[in-house]
Amino acid sequence: MQIFTHKKDLQEYLRKWFSGNTIGFVPTMGALHAGHLSLIEQSKKKCGVTVCSIFVNPTQFNDPADLAKYSRPIENDIQLLEQAGCDIVYNPDTNDVYDGEPSIIQIDLGGLDKVFEGAQRPGHFDGVVSVVKKLFEAVKPTDVFFGQKDYQQTLVVRKMIRQEDMSIKFYTCPTTREADGLAMSSRNARLTIEERAQATNIYKVLKQAALKQGLYTPTQVEEYMHTELKKNSLMQIEYASIVDPTDLKPIIDWQHGAVILVAVKMPSTRLIDNVVL
Ligand code: PAJ
Repeated sequence: MQIFTHKKDLQEYLRKWFSGNTIGFVPTMGALHAGHLSLIEQSKKKCGVTVCSIFVNPTQFNDPADLAKYSRPIENDIQLLEQAGCDIVYNPDTNDVYDGEPSIIQIDLGGLDKVFEGAQRPGHFDGVVSVVKKLFEAVKPTDVFFGQKDYQQTLVVRKMIRQEDMSIKFYTCPTTREADGLAMSSRNARLTIEERAQATNIYKVLKQAALKQGLYTPTQVEEYMHTELKKNSLMQIEYASIVDPTDLKPIIDWQHGAVILVAVKMPSTRLIDNVVL
């Protein structure tokens, strides 16, 4: 496995050894777990060479404390990627990614960036599209792999690819879960024992809600989710909503599919999860 900190070297290496290959790319912020590695596995199946980036992007953190707390176990990450059979790691600093000071680009995301995560974390998706665009320009992938865990992010990045006319194939990969259903996340490590015990109920409620599809209206199922999630004393609900899976707009019936989105704040961290129907 080759590790690069400068995109110039990465590009030279790809040109020299992998020209004509499909380039699969998995952007990450490190603190890797089985969810990230499942994306690497998908990329390896589909592409001639797989590149993973590890870069904790400051511009997408609206909360400086969250950025400061973000874990950076780079040696362990590299070991995990090696074991997973990743070909190339791009582990740049801010200067290499942004060609200087971090900057924000403006792309019309059609309002997708203003709701749910965008509303809870103002500026978050501006930071995400800014860094993802820079990373795509650095790696020049043919195929990119993102996790359904961050459902709204998949819509936002796909929209960016369309808006910017990039010829990149986008894959959404299923959410990897702990044995009890909790969606894997780098932030789970921050949960206390009590919080962790309650966190398991997020996916339980999502699954129960999914079973009610067609039997109740979306609004009734949202009410059910609120009632159930409120039973967890350490959880503050940010949203528990059932919306259109393509534009995240409210729905009145189940005819055109739905995605159930949940975000809760616990004392030590916030957690998100979703189920697509
Ligand atoms: P990060 O949170 O490190 O996630 C990197 C990729 O792993 C994302 O596509 C995310 O959806 C996916 N992922 C995380 N947990 C997962 C799980 N349990 N199952 C499946 N996939 C999972 O998302 C980011 O980083 C950043 O916003 C980034 C795109 C790298 C831009 O900075």
